[in-house]
Amino acid sequence: MTSALQLGTLDNMSTLESDTPSQQVADTVASVIGERRTTKRFVAPEQRHIQAASLSEAESATLKRMLRIAGQAPFHKPAAKIHCSATLSSPVPWRFHVVERGACTRLVDWLEQQAASGIEPWPRAWASKIPALLSAAGAAVLVTWLPAADPAADDTRSTTGGTEFSLANIEIVAAAGAAVQNLMLMAQAEGWDSYWSSGGSLREPDTFDHLGMARIERLLGAIMLTPRDHPVDKSIGGGLFDKRGDYTDWTRYVDI
Ligand SMILES: Cc1cc2nc3c(=O)[nH]c(=O)nc-3n(C[C@H](O)[C@H](O)[C@H](O)COP(=O)(O)O)c2cc1C
Repeated sequence: MTSALQLGTLDNMSTLESDTPSQQVADTVASVIGERRTTKRFVAPEQRHIQAASLSEAESATLKRMLRIAGQAPFHKPAAKIHCSATLSSPVPWRFHVVERGACTRLVDWLEQQAASGIEPWPRAWASKIPALLSAAGAAVLVTWLPAADPAADDTRSTTGGTEFSLANIEIVAAAGAAVQNLMLMAQAEGWDSYWSSGGSLREPDTFDHLGMARIERLLGAIMLTPRDHPVDKSIGGGLFDKRGDYTDWTRYVDI
């Protein structure tokens, strides 16, 4: 029997006949992976207080479930001790900093106050899409990766930030990326939209301080998660969504 993942298109995946329980599981997994897509949801920042003040109890519980399952990502080595505290004690090489609906609104308020100072990068940050994304988000999960060595540089904005691009760090970023993908797949399965943003002004050291995030962590992305029935002004998909081609365009079988 042809498996769902051997088939080329999503349409084919959804019309598969499932004749065994394990095939049904494979089909469900294939449809969750195949149907996930970036959805950037925007609400004008001045409309932010019109949104629900907080997630409902049920939505909050759903979010917790997504976060828990997302952690089932592979990781190679325990995080350096410097990253482990009494509350965030796990050896996994990533951290999730969850900015839930109410906190998203307060973060937009803070960004507006920062912009009022007139000092860059804040006016530019206020003019970026981050305030509109936060204004629409059910939650923004700021995912960091935890450098293997104690980084000398103190610059959370940088993608390398003085942190060596070593095999250890590459594997840490890869593990954190797997956790992010798990999170977005769970969002898809739960009927929430998701969007992996590089984070813009959320990378700023001052933003890290404001959110209680350690500067030695590195931001991998700001993952916007929102129940699909929440209000939205505008939503758009990922620019590269239909550019990936078929798997044969990035896969070769080794012929030896
Ligand atoms: C590490 C990473 C960072 C990303 N950052 C941004 C971003 O800052 N802005 C943006 O518009 N899309 C960003 N994206 C989303 C991509 O645009 C999107 O994944 C791509 O267009 C493919 O679309 P799809 O997710 O619907 O398959 C990012 C994706 C990844 C993996």
